Amino acid sequence: MAANNSSFKFSLFSHLVLNVLILLLATSTKTANSYAFSIKEATIEGIQLAFRQNQLASRQLVQFYIGEIRRLNPVLNAVIEDMIGTKDKQNTTAGSFALLGSVVARDAGVVMKLRKAGAIIMGKASLSEWADFRSLQAPNGFSARGGQGKNPYVLSADPCGSSSGPAISVAANLVAVSLGTETDGSILCPSSSNSVVGIKPTVGLTSLAGVIPVSPRQDTIGDICLSLFISDAKVSSSNGSSISVDYNDPATKAASYYIPYGGYKQFLKLYGLKGKRLGIVRNPFFNFDKGSALTQAFNYHLQTLRQQGAVLVDYLEIANIDVILNATASGEATALVAEFKLALNAYVKELVASPVRSLAEVIAFNEKFSDFEKIEEFGQDIFLAAQATNGIGNTEKAALLNLAKLSRDGFEKAMTVNKLDALVTPRSDIAPVLAIGGFPGINVPAGYDTEGVPFGINFGGLRGTEPKLIEIAYGFEQATMIRKPPSFQP
Ligand SMILES: *[C@@H]1O[C@H](CO)[C@@H](O)[C@H](O)[C@H]1NC(C)=O
Ligand SMILES: *[C@@H]1O[C@H](CO)[C@@H](O)[C@H](O)[C@H]1NC(C)=O
Ligand SMILES: *[C@@H]1O[C@H](CO)[C@@H](O)[C@H](O)[C@H]1NC(C)=O
Repeated sequence: MAANNSSFKFSLFSHLVLNVLILLLATSTKTANSYAFSIKEATIEGIQLAFRQNQLASRQLVQFYIGEIRRLNPVLNAVIEDMIGTKDKQNTTAGSFALLGSVVARDAGVVMKLRKAGAIIMGKASLSEWADFRSLQAPNGFSARGGQGKNPYVLSADPCGSSSGPAISVAANLVAVSLGTETDGSILCPSSSNSVVGIKPTVGLTSLAGVIPVSPRQDTIGDICLSLFISDAKVSSSNGSSISVDYNDPATKAASYYIPYGGYKQFLKLYGLKGKRLGIVRNPFFNFDKGSALTQAFNYHLQTLRQQGAVLVDYLEIANIDVILNATASGEATALVAEFKLALNAYVKELVASPVRSLAEVIAFNEKFSDFEKIEEFGQDIFLAAQATNGIGNTEKAALLNLAKLSRDGFEKAMTVNKLDALVTPRSDIAPVLAIGGFPGINVPAGYDTEGVPFGINFGGLRGTEPKLIEIAYGFEQATMIRKPPSFQP
């Protein structure tokens, strides 16, 4: 598709649109004078406990994060809008000047739910502009409005994207938890690269209402947080809760049947790995150089998983994996560009006010303000390919059928035939496999390479299997506890 079959990185369709920084459940307004509690690296449960014990007040917590954002954001470019916003004071722009000043009709569905649960929305994080869906050349984490987002571990390293800001800001303790969205890799990849936990829920579990889209078929909103420990990830996903039926997004009704009675927190079990069947697909996911940090780390991790009681089903294959990982060959690119044009045109039409009212106008805006938007440098080739589409025609239908078949014969078959609970893979390389089927995944910190750049481990499963994935990821996390705070090396 987009421009002469250029090779698509798996992170290409990384998608982060509504990058929200959330500060959760401010239940206390008392001013505490003792300060034994350390906010840095604190989990949500730790924060809430500090509230209850009068060691921390929500104002203090907010002030701490404001201070950290002022101090670190000039280096990290992780936050665009600066601070405690109400819905009418923050822009929603996908990092582009084209949507600056656009006015949304209401809070997005997930934001409504989070506010209701007592969350304070601190601001919005930066991202790869337009969720990495404008051009193939733009670097991860770059947007015209936000500048270049930086990896807080090694500032010159790739922060990945497109939910770069949410991962960076949580990793650097600018906020307790953030939301990102993913079309293909956008939560999992930056979580892996910035040593935080990322949860990409089954498509439909979280409402897409009020979110700048790429593809309603693949988009999903998830959490990025320091640790699964005490449900940092699930405060917003379940009990908090961004998961539940939203009448502004009909897809949530169908998926609501996956929501377990009693919420998700019950699956944070210390022995969650016991008896779980975990699949390993060596080719191509474990093809690292011998002796590399990744090889060493993953040999060790597979051993840990076994020691914790998991059954590893090794040397499996996913049929047509090379095709699935190539968005041009699979049909993913063909489907996404057409879906994006339809969805984006619908989104901008519904805005109360907007400088642009169609994809064509966004493209024209970019040409007019090409200096700001760095059009000469990075182009807008994906936009142009999307604009050239004309709805879901025969080509797109064939692509969609092919994607469904690839999923059925590939991942779904490998999972069901081998009775797997999850597939274990390094980093976020499996993202396209999960993306095309709307499958969930959880990424957990798994190590640092010789330069100090983080990498994660991914647990992916069939639709609606979040409870099992949480048990597995939590079991791994608690057995390893690999995350360490960033050191901002050059
Ligand atoms: C958006 O950003 C502009 C320019 O920084 C600012 O004037 C405006 O108040 C912000 N908020 C909204 C809702 O437009
Ligand atoms: C989480 O939510 C469920 C219902 O959705 C409720 O039964 C459970 O008590 C909640 N857990 C906590 C810790 O709030
Ligand atoms: C991806 O598939 C396309 C079309 O089938 C092909 O031209 C291209 O070389 C493939 N890219 C890679 C990296 O294999």
